[in-house]
Amino acid sequence: MSAAQWDQRYAADDYHYGTAPNAWLISQAWRLPRIGAALALADGEGRNGVWLAQQGLQTTSLDQSAAGLAKAQHLAQQRGVVLRTVQADLADWVWPESTYAVIASIFVHLPDALRRRTHAGITRALRPGGLLILEAFTPAQLACASGGPRDLALLYTEALLREDFAALELLEVLSGEVLLDEGPGHRGPGQVLRLLARRAA
Ligand SMILES: C[S@@+](CC[C@H](N)C(=O)[O-])C[C@H]1O[C@@H](n2cnc3c(N)ncnc32)[C@H](O)[C@@H]1O
Repeated sequence: MSAAQWDQRYAADDYHYGTAPNAWLISQAWRLPRIGAALALADGEGRNGVWLAQQGLQTTSLDQSAAGLAKAQHLAQQRGVVLRTVQADLADWVWPESTYAVIASIFVHLPDALRRRTHAGITRALRPGGLLILEAFTPAQLACASGGPRDLALLYTEALLREDFAALELLEVLSGEVLLDEGPGHRGPGQVLRLLARRAA
């Protein structure tokens, strides 16, 4: 989907994926550092970036959708936290080096070359000891009606993520069925991969 199509999806007042953070992200709360920089990648309407900011991290939400980021700022104000928003296309965003204590990549489905570029960028942008928390749909999601791309080429397998993040220490790689309850966008049984990785200290 183009940035304009995402803007259209986010045009309504309601939050397409809800305002509550992703369940996999919350489950890692106990591992998060108390201070440091966080990046919520392709954060849409900001539910995950706002939650990371609420944990005390200096958080940047990046997305290509101006409409999504405006709602992210609104949510941050409602929750009383500061959120930096960056409107950018991952195709040409210049990744910083060794910067983030935490990167959240939640349902960021990209075509092959851009996915590789993005995952290489994540690997470099984590500071030593930094954590990547990622959730994405697997090809099995094509049989589910709970959201996600309808294109096999945009869905991720465990082998693919292991290859992309070979330079990181993989602490958890889980795959299987979960019950999604994330706004109208992700609702019902879904087939996901949940990955937790760390850059060597
Ligand atoms: C399924 S939504 C997930 C949003 C958010 N991560 C969440 O879980 O609520 C995917 C997001 O990826 C963003 N996105 C897709 N391709 C992108 C790109 N090339 N550059 C920046 N953002 C992109 C879209 O604008 C959209 O907000």
